Amino acid sequence: MARWSGSAALQAETAQLLGMAEEAVRQGQLGQALPMLSRALAFDPEGAAPAYAELLARLSLSGWPPQLEDDLVTCLHTASVDPQALARGAARMLLVKYPEPVVADDALWEAFLTRCINVDPAMERRLVWLAGQELPRALRTALAVQAFASEYVWGGEGLSIPPAVAAEIAEERTLAAAMPSLGDSGDQISRAVRDQYEASPYPRWRAPPVPQRVSVAAHLAALGAPQSEPLELLVAGCGTGFEPIDMARMDPSLRITALDLSAASLAYGQRMARERGVENLRFVQGDILDSDKLGGRFGMVSSTGVLHHMERPENGLSALAGVLKPGGVLRIALYSERARAWVSEAHDAIAAHGWDASPKGIRAFRAHVLALPAGTPLARLRESDDFYTLSGCRDLCFHVREHWYRLPAIGEMLTGAGLALLMLDAPPEAQARFAAMHGDADRRDLALWDRVEAAHPHLFAGMFHLWARRP
Ligand SMILES: C[S@@+](CC[C@H](N)C(=O)[O-])C[C@H]1O[C@@H](n2cnc3c(N)ncnc32)[C@H](O)[C@@H]1O
Repeated sequence: MARWSGSAALQAETAQLLGMAEEAVRQGQLGQALPMLSRALAFDPEGAAPAYAELLARLSLSGWPPQLEDDLVTCLHTASVDPQALARGAARMLLVKYPEPVVADDALWEAFLTRCINVDPAMERRLVWLAGQELPRALRTALAVQAFASEYVWGGEGLSIPPAVAAEIAEERTLAAAMPSLGDSGDQISRAVRDQYEASPYPRWRAPPVPQRVSVAAHLAALGAPQSEPLELLVAGCGTGFEPIDMARMDPSLRITALDLSAASLAYGQRMARERGVENLRFVQGDILDSDKLGGRFGMVSSTGVLHHMERPENGLSALAGVLKPGGVLRIALYSERARAWVSEAHDAIAAHGWDASPKGIRAFRAHVLALPAGTPLARLRESDDFYTLSGCRDLCFHVREHWYRLPAIGEMLTGAGLALLMLDAPPEAQARFAAMHGDADRRDLALWDRVEAAHPHLFAGMFHLWARRP
């Protein structure tokens, strides 16, 4: 009892500190928020770390406060935080702490190298330098973990793979060989896409998403599309499993099927799911075009960043609509033509230089981009996390097939598949722009949204996310 009241008091104190810190952040007083968050972190690392990490990710560091370093290391090792969100901040802090190249073995180096994938060009140069030095054993192992995670995009091939990583590779090979399969659909583009992701599973996420308990059925009911339970969910083109694992942990009542062309990607996800004890999830290799071979009907289908890689996305959409139960819900995410326009500069440069999607071609392209002066349009690629792994850079700039969309065309495609739009899941800035331009007009009107996007082409850089329903 005494322990219970002690932890309740602690929770109350943490909540109070977090509330005060949040208010300070809201008023732009980041300097005041940090000590409060630091105290909250000391009381309750799991509870306070997400808020602290969010603030750290927004800080631009000029000095090196030791307390901040300790807190950053704590956040990087806390399960409730996605360490990759701290990759930029951690790299900056290390470069501020060690402005000149030195071999320094400390807790921040170790946490950064083993928990994050570097996404900072200056840090990339430092990693190249480090790989050429005599290193203490622990630092060498941590650098080898980093080099493997970034798929040797900057080098580091000479660093021997740590035994724990080698065991993961072996496990994934075994899982891939035993993966249940729907067989080959015969579609030529699907084959080429499969080959791309067999060689380069993507994304290579490292830490699991933070589980937050949410009832997906309740969410769908709130959207006006109630489903019977247990809810069967198909994640179509699940890649390396981030989304289905996130959803499985978020709502253990779901029964999830995760489908992808690439057995190597699925094996990555299956290993991650096993390590986390996720059981309400099965992985299947196959083509969306063959979804009916899965042998079931689903209350919800989710397909994020996938259909635009098919030869005929409308056929993929129809196949997915066909496995929805009547009244079932589809969630899709597709590339925006306007937000993606700058990538065509990358395609032009790649074509002009004749680089191919091999590791050698991708490295040559990256060296070109890294050498560009800041402010050059193509130099923007350096801000993308995907630029810092071979598979990410390949997905970003060397894809075998991709279609880009304007919203009215997506509306037509949904109608053609017999689906009714429920909503465009637009980010807050886009919602505000819509309100400013169209007041309280119907937000399911994609022509109105198209005008908003035409005026602000960056709004859907994170893709168009839409929800639709099978009548
Ligand atoms: C850009 S990745 C996205 C992965 C995942 N949805 C995510 O958001 O992280 C695209 C994935 O779609 C898969 N894919 C592409 N076309 C497919 C198809 N016709 N059937 C099944 N999977 C497909 C690829 O194998 C790849 O893993």
